[in-house]
Parts: sequence; C-alpha cells; structure tokens
Amino acid sequence: MCGIVGYVGKQNAVAIILEGLKRLEYRGYDSAGICVQKGRKLNLIKKAGRVDNLSKEVAKHRMVGTTGIGHTRWATHGGVTDANAHPHVSSDGKFALIHNGVIENYAQMKAFLLKKGYKFKSETDTEVLCNLIAYHYAKENSRTKGQSRFVECVRKTLRHVEGTYGIAVLCVDFPSEIVGARKASPLILGVGEDEYILASDASALVSRTQNVVYLKDGEIAHLTPKNFFISTLDQADVSPVVDKINWSVADAELGDYAHFMEKEIFEQPAALENAMRGRFSADGSTAQFGGLNITPGEFRDLERFMFCACGTAWHACLVTEHLIERFARIPVEVDYASEFRYRNSPLDPRTLFFVMSQSGETIDTLAALREAKRKGYRVMAVNNVVGSSIAREADGGIYQHVGPEVGVASTKAFTSQLLIGAMIALYVARMRDMSFSDGVQYVEALKAAPALTRRALAQAPKIKAIAKRYAKYQDMLFLGRLSLFPLALEGALKLKEISYIHAEGYPAAEMKHGPIALVSESCPSVFFAPKSEIFNKIVSSMQEIKARKGPIIAITTEGTELPEGLADETIFIPECHEAVLPIVAAIPVQLLSYYIAVERGCDVDKPRNLAKSVTVE
Ligand code: AGP
Ligand code: GLU
Repeated sequence: MCGIVGYVGKQNAVAIILEGLKRLEYRGYDSAGICVQKGRKLNLIKKAGRVDNLSKEVAKHRMVGTTGIGHTRWATHGGVTDANAHPHVSSDGKFALIHNGVIENYAQMKAFLLKKGYKFKSETDTEVLCNLIAYHYAKENSRTKGQSRFVECVRKTLRHVEGTYGIAVLCVDFPSEIVGARKASPLILGVGEDEYILASDASALVSRTQNVVYLKDGEIAHLTPKNFFISTLDQADVSPVVDKINWSVADAELGDYAHFMEKEIFEQPAALENAMRGRFSADGSTAQFGGLNITPGEFRDLERFMFCACGTAWHACLVTEHLIERFARIPVEVDYASEFRYRNSPLDPRTLFFVMSQSGETIDTLAALREAKRKGYRVMAVNNVVGSSIAREADGGIYQHVGPEVGVASTKAFTSQLLIGAMIALYVARMRDMSFSDGVQYVEALKAAPALTRRALAQAPKIKAIAKRYAKYQDMLFLGRLSLFPLALEGALKLKEISYIHAEGYPAAEMKHGPIALVSESCPSVFFAPKSEIFNKIVSSMQEIKARKGPIIAITTEGTELPEGLADETIFIPECHEAVLPIVAAIPVQLLSYYIAVERGCDVDKPRNLAKSVTVE
C-alpha cells in the first residue's frame, strides 16, 4: 500500500514527484503530500484526498527545488486527515520522511521519545520513525563526522525498528540528498541522466528512465546529485545491479478508455498471447517454462502441490487445483497466504510450493513464501511484476508478462494466472498419463484462448445493457460448479470491490444449504451454466432460485437452450476446452461488474478502502 517517490537531480522536483504520485495513486489514495528541499529549507504541502487535491494546493504556492519526496497514503495508523498525511517532519524540523509499511513497535518508541521532549502532530507510526531518526542524529551529531552522518543515523534508527518499511528521508543539513531504505515494502531506484528517483514501483519513474536497481530487504540507498551508494543495515557496501524495465510509459497510459479496468479487460486477448508466447514445446504437445529451475525428473517425482495467494490470485489457484487434479492426477492444496503463514500445516516432503501474485509484493504471500522456504520447501512464483520481492525470493518462477496492471480490480492478471495454471497442469500431466495426442489437443485449445476471449468480449454491449437493469440491487449471488466455482467467487469479489454491492460466490448446489434464504425478487443470481455433463444439475439449481422469484442472469455456451422463461438474462460464451473455460467465463463477470460500477457512478479504478498492492498485514 501507499506510493512513495523521491527525486534528486537538476530538474524541478515538484512536477516529477506529482507525476510519479499520480501514477502510484492506485497503491493508496487516502491522502497525498510532497516536501521539497531548497537549501536548508523544507517546503511541505500535504492534504487528505487524492493527488489532484494536492496538485491544486501546490499550484497555489511557489514550490521549487531539485530535491524532494512525495507520498500517496493508504492509512494503517491514524485516520484520513491532513495531519496524518505524509511526509512527516521531525519535531526539531530537521528531517522529512515518507513511509510505506507498519512500524510495529511504534508505541514503545513514541513513549520513549515523548519523555525526551519530542512532539507529535499525527497519530501515525511513521512520525515516530521520523523523530527517532532526529533523536539518533542529535545524539550522534557530536560523534560521527562527515558525509555519512545522515546515512548513519537512519541506519542506526532502522536497527531499532520492528515491522515493515520502504522509506525516503530528507535532512536539512544535507541539501540535495535522499536516504532510502526498505524492509518487506518495495523500493526501487531509477538511474536517470543526472538524476536519481526512488519509488515504490517502476510506474513512477519509467517516463524518465528504464534503468533501475531493485533494492533488497535491509538495504539503504544514499542518493546525491552525482552518484548513489547502496549499503546494508550492517554497513556492508553493495555493488548495485542495474536492470532494464521491459515496458514503457505508454503501457501504463489510459488511451481511449474511460478506466484502467476497462482497458485491461479489453487487453486480455493480447495479454494471453504474451503469457503463452514461447511456452509450448516444439512438438506442440506440452508446455515449457524457462525459469522454473527444477529438472523434469524432480517435477515428475512430486507427490503434491501447494498453492498460496490472496484475493483474486487465490481464485486462480483454486482453478489451477482443479485442472492439475483433473489432468495430472496429483493432489493439490490451496491456502490463503495470510492463513498459511501462521497455520503451521503439516506438508508432505515431496510437495512443490507455488505462490501466485500479480504485484509480487503482497506481504502475506511474501510471508507464506518465506515460511515455506524456512521449512525447506522449494518455492515457485507465478508473478507479473518483474523484479518484485516475490520474484527475487522465489527459487524459480513463471512471469505472467501481461504488462502493468493499474486498475485495483485485477482482470488481465487473473486470466493470465488461469492460463499459466492450465499450462502447469498440462506440463505435469504430460509427464504422467496424458498422451501425446491429448497434449496436442490441449495445446491447440490453449492457443485458441485469445480468440475465444475476444469473442466473449464481443458481448460487451449486451452486458452493458444488462448492467443498467441490475445496478439498482444491493445483493447478488454468483453460482458455479467445479472449475467455475472459483469463478463465482471471483465474480462476487469483482462486484463487491468496485460497486459496493454485497455479493456472495457459492458452488451452485451448496446454495440450498443456506444462501437460498437470501433469494427473493431483490436478490439476483448470476449462474455459470455452460454445456457440460452436469448442465442439467445446474438447471435444477436455477429452477430452485426461480421458484423463489429470484432474478437469474445465466452465462451459458453459445447454442445452448435453457428452459423457456428460466433465465431473465442470458449471456453467451463460446464453446471451449475445459482448461480454457474459466478464462473465457471470467469475461462476462468482469464486464458485468465494471458496467454496474460505472452505472452506479463508482470510482472504478480506485474503489474505497482498497489499494492495488497490499504491502501491509
Ligand atoms: C483483485 O481484484 C484484488 N484487488 C485483490 O484481491 C488482489 O488480487 C490481491 O490483493 C492479491 O494481489 P497480488 O496478486 O498482487 O498478490
Ligand atoms: N503506516 C503508515 C500510515 O498509516 C503508512 C501506511 C502505508 O504504507 O500505506 O501512515
């Protein structure tokens, strides 16, 4: 959560920081703030609300300087107020700091600092960190001489801190310098021409440079106008590795779309192409992955898979479970990363562990990965953001390659996770019982996924019209079976998060064990009812809803006839292979949620209380 940007260079930092904040706003949008340093003066403006609010305020003042920091907040400690907005300035006025994360021992440190006479203006954990740096600086001032004093007091402070942080700090005594550091929260350093930019993620700096250094946990970066230095909390020097970002600023632009979510929904055919490119064997009968770092023999000897993730990615894991068990006949367990990390569940030694995460920064997923590694398991990551914490800490992995996903509601990342899950199932199945010809058929089916997805997207105008009629409801059920049960969960999650309609996803037949009590004229049900061997069972569940006057939106296969009068609305999806069905079935529920949210006037890309990347517990 929360986005941070820091700039040191020759240009006016204000415009660069505000542009960076705008691009990072999807990470948090409770408040925004900027602090620019000019000589020994810190010029601070911060406001509750969006970055636009901050920009308007900044425009009223003459704010100039070539060094500065900015923040967009997702509140954890303290309400959404101007005072709690970052940057925070130490009570002696010497330091300004922005922070992403949670300082867990902030209460003890605050009590200590209050006794020492430090004053606090906010309720945040962050302000404590800022004052603690000031305390160490004042204490060490007489002892540590020279340039390193700034870095050393930050280093010293961080040794006393429990919790997570990505920070950037200014100090009045060191104009044109920034000290940044990270632990569990992301922080990257952009290396531009005569300028350096610190940011939570690449979107904030890609318009200025594609050369980046991914900082590791426990590293401190010291930026000056001419150079940068990286060291560890233990004072060891680090030789930086400069990587290149493989996308440009145009990939993160809205173009002709009204929202990023809309753009990303319609990008899915191309995203799927990218996710599968180069990943089929030359004989066209199986999948191949470059980055798994595990031999086919080791893969074949596995007895079990364990998948951990959060939110939408967890739904993708549930579909993957279904496909691996169905085609490769290996047991799969799926857990919420947030539960797994504390659950201490017994695992079979011949288990291969997978985590799935679009951002690669979700703190619970990262913690699950670390917990599995601590127990000696090899952990693979399915991940979209290249160079993310999860990508770097995993033993191997598969990149999704779908470009930046900006909308808070995950869409193209989800369907590409489904595709990669289907490819993992194929890969393992072909090592076991799946024949060459079944493999070829499966591969052909996956290759058809982009075109089929395009066909499903062609239903958009019809779905938009349905959305207009259903936007008034306050409750909705999503029902599906087998591999589409997770799609029911996903449909409900999408609708909840962007339109604030209460929605529940259930296995269709489970509905009569409780949720059916909700059914009435004012609670519609969205049914996944594709052509399958259990089609008639699903139709029976629909009849049960209809008998109780529940409106029905049916999603079924082209050419399928539902009993007369059963569905109030019917959305068709093309006929497809079992491994592709969940991908194609995702389209109508994504579109339905999107259009309903637009109809209700909701802020689709920045739904209330949410943030794109959940980097706090
Ligand atoms: C999806 O629409 C959600 N906003 C959310 O559930 C998300 O999928 C979850 O936070 C996991 O994110 P990750 O894939 O970046 O780890
Ligand atoms: N804990 C800090 C706050 O509440 C930072 C939160 C974040 O990372 O978004 O202000």
